[in-house]
Amino acid sequence: MKLFLDTADIEEIRTVHRWGVLDGVTTNPTLFGKTKGMTYDEVLQEICGITSGPVSAEVVAEDVEGMLTEGRHFAKLADNIVVKVPMSETGLEAISRLKAEGIRTNCTLVFTANQGLLAAKAGASLLSPFVGRVDDINEEGMTVVRELAEIIRFYEYDSEVLTASVRHPRHITEAALAGSHIATLPFKVFQQMVHHPLTDKGIVQFKRDWEAARAAADERAKASARA
Ligand code: E4P
Repeated sequence: MKLFLDTADIEEIRTVHRWGVLDGVTTNPTLFGKTKGMTYDEVLQEICGITSGPVSAEVVAEDVEGMLTEGRHFAKLADNIVVKVPMSETGLEAISRLKAEGIRTNCTLVFTANQGLLAAKAGASLLSPFVGRVDDINEEGMTVVRELAEIIRFYEYDSEVLTASVRHPRHITEAALAGSHIATLPFKVFQQMVHHPLTDKGIVQFKRDWEAARAAADERAKASARA
């Protein structure tokens, strides 16, 4: 399973890249809004210089021509850019036309398996069901991931399911078990996946025992030197 970082924060991306577990990055206008001092293009180019995995850049135009103009612009920034297009009638047309031009797309704001199926048929490389936002309205977000992953495998579509809107580490385990090809997660969830109270406690305990053993060995060596 591939894991993407859902952020536009350069330091977070550098950190997870250093861990050796980063397969790509997703950004959106909200995440870009949290960065300071750089244009969206500059942020995207910096990210593409860190990871060679897919980096999603989201269009904001609502009409097809506007989406195509933004998408073509993003695609020229780096080879690993994937153009993120919202699910809509115009979005499907833009996905289909970008595919014809050889530009990869990520269909975002997917909330049903049917929306994901349409995006796959239009030619999106990535399909992004938003699990957290569905859970937020008291429904089961992971059901969409499970259904969509099964449809994609059954009909052998050339698209990957990218579980998005991840809120906690359990979402990642469930997405993996549901057959999601990829999940994109905030930095905090990456950190939560690393840590376990018994792991952290065990590290402290081993260090303490090691230092006690070293001190005892030093004492024995000093006693035998005195004898
Ligand atoms: C990623 O592609 C999505 O834009 C992101 O996961 C949305 O997450 P949110 O629902 O926490 O805003």
